Amino acid sequence: MRFTVRPGTDPVASADATLLAAMGLPGGGVIAIGSTHVMVRPGTVREPTGLLLGPVGMRNARVTEGQAIEAKRAVLPHAQRIVVAGDELPGNPKDLIAALHGTPVTPGDVLSIDASYLSNGSEDAIELQVVEMKPPKAATVGVATVIVAEGDQTTSFAVTSARVSKRPVGAAAPSATETSQPAPSPPPTAPSRADALLAGLESELELMTGWLSLLTSVEDLPSAWGLPQVAGILLQGPPGCGQAELVSRAAETTRARVHEVDLDLVFKPERLLDHLEKAVKTTSPPTVIFVNRLEAVAGEEGLSPFRTQVAAILRWFLDAVAEKPGIAAVLGVASVARLDSTITSSPLLPRTLSIPPPDLDRRSLLFEAALAKVPTDDIDYGRLAARSAGFSGADIVAAVVHASTSVAMSRAPLTTEAVVAAVEETTPSLGSASLGEIPSYGFERVAGLEDVKQRLTEAVIWPMTQPERFAQLGIEPPRGILLHGPPGTGKTFVVRALAHEAGAAFFPVKGAELLDKFVGESERGVREVFARARAAAPSILFFDEFDALAPVRGSSTSSVTDSVVAALLTEIDGVHGRGDVVVVAASNRRDLIDPALLRSGRFEVHIELGLPEQAARRALLDIVDVPFGPTVDLDELAKRTDGMSFADVTGLLREAALATLRSDDHALEVGWAEIEGALDHFGERVNNDN
Ligand SMILES: Nc1ncnc2c1ncn2[C@@H]1O[C@H](COP(=O)(O)OP(=O)(O)OP(=O)(O)O)[C@@H](O)[C@H]1O
Ligand SMILES: [Mg+2]
Repeated sequence: MRFTVRPGTDPVASADATLLAAMGLPGGGVIAIGSTHVMVRPGTVREPTGLLLGPVGMRNARVTEGQAIEAKRAVLPHAQRIVVAGDELPGNPKDLIAALHGTPVTPGDVLSIDASYLSNGSEDAIELQVVEMKPPKAATVGVATVIVAEGDQTTSFAVTSARVSKRPVGAAAPSATETSQPAPSPPPTAPSRADALLAGLESELELMTGWLSLLTSVEDLPSAWGLPQVAGILLQGPPGCGQAELVSRAAETTRARVHEVDLDLVFKPERLLDHLEKAVKTTSPPTVIFVNRLEAVAGEEGLSPFRTQVAAILRWFLDAVAEKPGIAAVLGVASVARLDSTITSSPLLPRTLSIPPPDLDRRSLLFEAALAKVPTDDIDYGRLAARSAGFSGADIVAAVVHASTSVAMSRAPLTTEAVVAAVEETTPSLGSASLGEIPSYGFERVAGLEDVKQRLTEAVIWPMTQPERFAQLGIEPPRGILLHGPPGTGKTFVVRALAHEAGAAFFPVKGAELLDKFVGESERGVREVFARARAAAPSILFFDEFDALAPVRGSSTSSVTDSVVAALLTEIDGVHGRGDVVVVAASNRRDLIDPALLRSGRFEVHIELGLPEQAARRALLDIVDVPFGPTVDLDELAKRTDGMSFADVTGLLREAALATLRSDDHALEVGWAEIEGALDHFGERVNNDN
């Protein structure tokens, strides 16, 4: 979005509310301008494109009044550590955090701290320059951020060599002490496993810390502030990905103890009750009761015959914890879709926090942590991370142990190759399903269907890539899209290509796969795929052969599908019109689908795929990788395949290729004779079908 710089006040910039809403920042937020980031709020501006910036903001962005600038919405992580130079820091480091909380900070920025925040009685604002940050990029100041003065780096903070060159020319000069006796850079220390698991989870950590400090406060803040009774928070995420680490780190910050209830060895509801009762009775505030791996007792593989009993016990537990001031409960579970809805919708657990599976950065750090003490050659962590999609923290440790066994005898240093080999032999416990598998081909492999590709691009890709344009024009992207048409016309094929084009996580589900003869299981399946797609957003959820899953209610002999349709309706209505989860369905029998699902607001966009025209069939012949011989007239072939679907044509070519193989061991090309043979064959079949 383009703005013109106008004078305003620090530290928060102002801009026109409508323009901000169009950028996806209706209540304001962080924007990137020039070389810095500022917080902006909707305010009164005389010209609609004005951006009111204070003097410090202008200096940091290196812009001047009247200049036209491009501003972009930015999402920043929390800074772990900020090193500043310049005026002396206030005696109480909390003053700084209080003054800067929520402020976006970019390396090289000047920060001005108003005197009102300083408890040392000074009347002057202080000015600090950001000389270094960890991680070394723009971030916001959170409660867990540490701000230190340059030269005062007592703990294990690896000083990067880029540090001096980052300092803008002419900015606060390096202090004399630094130039005269350069501090020896401490050796870069490898991250601990907990650090690695928590990397990039700063906002989750801050949220958890916030909740725990409220709920375990010795003053019993919730009742002092008249807040509703709350027991704690639900924590969902795959095992081995940092749940326990998150809880203990947050508890450490709030100075609460952690009482972990281990459910692995619980086989009877009475035992569960024992454990929880003991936890509630024996702990004194401030304590966090962390019930981990709840799916072991509440999931289908757990105490399933006792599901209702387990749910009742958990409700008792939540009540008991909510009653006790200074005690908080954290319920950890692989997926909340596995839990009884009386637990997930309990007002005593108002918030669910999701921990995503480790991404590239976290995996790279996890390898670093796991290999910290193993003698190694130069390890290419980026490569290890790239090869280990779907790995949990525990899988990474398993792979490293496996690799270490190969060098234990010889004591030779471990190489990247050896670790990669071990990674390949390790089964990722998060599978590809939880991440969404992305097909390897895009629209270039899809012949014809130009109109379909265009409409899918508009309905699926645009809302994901340019949400601000949709917001600006006041359009809600469609929530659901239905592709329908005769068999073999490319419905499944084009949606898979779409997933590739969109670059979003992809969750394909075959209609019949979700049907389960056990009452309740199919609905749970539906809820679970939606939950997974939401957790991985932006994502595409694809229901293929949708008629099997969602037939007209009352039409089927089993009541399973009726309740599945009901679950689908609820879930689709719950998808926000933000375009971050798009639901696509395909069917060759639209008439069999329950009409309630096809109403507007649900699968509202219907795209029909008919049998391909001659030109489209001709285009297919150009795309397929069949080696045609010189005798083959592709135009003629396109003409002769009238009435065939794409699947028929590819089938015909396969048959011709097989005939070529059969006729001659050395043949490398498919000739017209084989094609002619296959055409006859197909002609017969088509005639027999009618
Ligand atoms: N537009 C196309 N370009 C290239 N190949 C195609 C195209 N459409 C279909 N095919 C080929 O035909 C095969 C079958 O198509 P697809 O599975 O997409 O049909 P469908 O419409 O989903 O049929 P059904 O209704 O039976 O599920 C694909 O695997 C692919 O090889
Ligand atoms: Mg299909």
